[in-house]
Amino acid sequence: MNEKGDPRRENGLLLPASTELPPWRKYLRRLRDRARNWHARIFFARHGIHRAPEIIAQMPLLEIMRGSSLSFGERSKVWSSNVQTVFYANHRSAIVVGHHVSINQGVLFIADNGSTITIGDHTRIGAQSQLVTTGYHQVAPGEPIKTAPIIVGRNVLIGRRANIMPGVTIGMHSVVAACSVVTKDVPPRSFVAGNPAVVKRTFECPDDWIRDSEFYTVAHATVLELPLPTAEIALQPAVPDEEFSHV
Ligand SMILES: CC(C)(COP(=O)(O)OP(=O)(O)OC[C@H]1O[C@@H](n2cnc3c(N)ncnc32)[C@H](O)[C@@H]1OP(=O)(O)O)[C@@H](O)C(=O)NCCC(=O)NCCS
Repeated sequence: MNEKGDPRRENGLLLPASTELPPWRKYLRRLRDRARNWHARIFFARHGIHRAPEIIAQMPLLEIMRGSSLSFGERSKVWSSNVQTVFYANHRSAIVVGHHVSINQGVLFIADNGSTITIGDHTRIGAQSQLVTTGYHQVAPGEPIKTAPIIVGRNVLIGRRANIMPGVTIGMHSVVAACSVVTKDVPPRSFVAGNPAVVKRTFECPDDWIRDSEFYTVAHATVLELPLPTAEIALQPAVPDEEFSHV
């Protein structure tokens, strides 16, 4: 509440008087979530995947070729929207996602040429990151094409648009900064950044620590209920064209 006693306005943002939803809306949301979960189960089962993650927004693109596999642990989440998340596994490859993993929109997983991508429990992968296990093309004549597994440990945070290159192992609890290109192994409990990513610092934490996150601590419903500040802007009278004539 601000000093004028207006509960709907704080720091220039419009806020709902109460973040508590009426019971009928909670009920409708539960129905919607249940329907979405059933849709996800059927969608994944049709691709031979018997434990489906929770889906936010839309179904991801699955290209799991014969002889390859994709699997999820319990209570993992995949967000896919206008930038679709893609899981591609071919030529006897596998993508193994642990429990409570959160995968943001537009993430690209490619496991090819008999390789695997393994994601540890409680790991979060930022939007539009890419994990690809093969280079697909030679660098110079006579050289082999590099293909190697990617292993991401438990409770890792991969920042948005990060690139994880073939053969990389990321140790538990570590953090990859946004847009970094990880070409070498990352030790546990370290923060790496840049292209190529280098260790910026290391930190201590207990083995069973799970990273806090806005996504989990702010109720999704509350975020959705916030009226957009742009609604206010739209209400302001349009500026007459003449005012811009000198520009
Ligand atoms: C991981 C992160 C939170 C770390 O923030 P931080 O602890 O405050 O780090 P700092 O800002 O103190 O930076 C430490 C060093 O890393 C560098 N750094 C930080 N982020 C970087 C990035 N994305 N790329 C390159 N270097 C980076 C800083 O320049 C600094 O370098 P220096 O010590 O040589 O000066 C932040 O870098 C980040 O990437 N946030 C995005 C998280 C994200 O994408 N989440 C998922 C959303 S979908």
